[in-house]
Amino acid sequence: MTLRPPFQYDAIILGAGAAGLFCAAIAGQRGRRVLLVDHADRPGKKILISGGGRCNFTNVHTAPDRFLSSNPHFAKSALARYTPRDFIDLVDIHGISWHEKTLGQLFCDGSARAIVEMLLGECERGGVDLWLANPVTAVDHADARYRVTVGDREASAPALVISTGGPSIPRMGATGFAYDLARRFGLKVVEPRPALVPLTLGGDDVLFRDLSGVAAPVIARAGKAAFREAALFTHRGLSGPAILQVSSYWRHGEPVGIDFIPDRTKGWLREAKRAQPRTSLRRVLGNHLPDRLAETLAERIALAGDIGNLPDRQLAAAEARLSDWRFTPNGTEGYAKAEVTAGGIGTAALSSQTMQAKTVPGLYAVGEAVDVTGWLGGYNFQWAWASGWAAAQDL
Ligand code: FDA
Repeated sequence: MTLRPPFQYDAIILGAGAAGLFCAAIAGQRGRRVLLVDHADRPGKKILISGGGRCNFTNVHTAPDRFLSSNPHFAKSALARYTPRDFIDLVDIHGISWHEKTLGQLFCDGSARAIVEMLLGECERGGVDLWLANPVTAVDHADARYRVTVGDREASAPALVISTGGPSIPRMGATGFAYDLARRFGLKVVEPRPALVPLTLGGDDVLFRDLSGVAAPVIARAGKAAFREAALFTHRGLSGPAILQVSSYWRHGEPVGIDFIPDRTKGWLREAKRAQPRTSLRRVLGNHLPDRLAETLAERIALAGDIGNLPDRQLAAAEARLSDWRFTPNGTEGYAKAEVTAGGIGTAALSSQTMQAKTVPGLYAVGEAVDVTGWLGGYNFQWAWASGWAAAQDL
């Protein structure tokens, strides 16, 4: 059997998610012949389910300090050169209506499908070829060209972009392919871990699972990070935006601190004692928290009787505990529930200007595959657009 000669391109982009689609579109529009490959039968599957189906496509407060990476400076260049405003302009050109929900998070008014269609339209404008629904069975590098085998077809190009994301949500086709490929080319991978993920509780904390479904506005802390948003108790532990945010900073064995009364100033329980001496702690907490949560916390603090009869010192201790309630999660809900993967292809090996590997000419990595992870709220898509755009300028 004679093999067909490989299809020739200027760049092959592996992974037609947010970063790959955008990178392909921009490179194509810059006159490059681009092949975009995905093993899934449709491109942009995560975009379709993102933001509850409305895609939180960017965040107007994007800034480098809202991204985790072993090198906190790495994302600066790409984020500065392709900004939320740039993406909003594109969304506007396509007539996609959007709104700001909260905390700078921009969502489509309608379906996330509009964003995928926009990206596909931009790819079409750039003459991008799209190969879907076949696994990548081989990637070789020889004579300054990358040869990629996909099903029974082969393509070759002087540039290869890894944009296959991380292993979060495997049932959607997510894999650790990016890391395997990067390692094969000698690039280091920062230990990946599930991020923006619910935390699980065991041991003494297991009783809190009885509160499943109860939510409250809190300040959640892990390490030096603190987020003021809602926390939600689940049948396995803790979730809600505040918890998802701190989960990216949390490490096994460490506690998560929760301030259940974030709007009260120091001494508020003593003030309550003066104002309503003949009430119980349980009832005071009930003025600020959902009933079941107030009850559980009061039971645990175990100060019985009217607060008027309790010494100030005990009230101060209760206050301190309520403002930094310590949970020690026994784990996370893992990649099956993680919105993103933290860690990934080490930034030390990549140019922050172009996303090209410093030691492997023509090899690029963009999007979630790279060791750059954004906060919850549109930051991860902004990184996908910005890193994809940066690589596309160099292809
Ligand atoms: P992405 O995962 O999008 O794309 C990777 C592509 O590579 C996929 O199409 C996959 O099929 C393909 N692929 C994988 N392995 C392959 C292989 N071996 N061969 C070929 N192809 C392969 N972010 C945000 O900013 N706002 C939001 O609203 C949300 N909402 C959200 C909801 C949910 C449920 C999840 C799971 C995630 C989010 N995110 C988010 C995160 C966001 O989806 C994520 O950060 C980006 O999609 C990352 O873009 P990438 O292109 O890097 O990877």
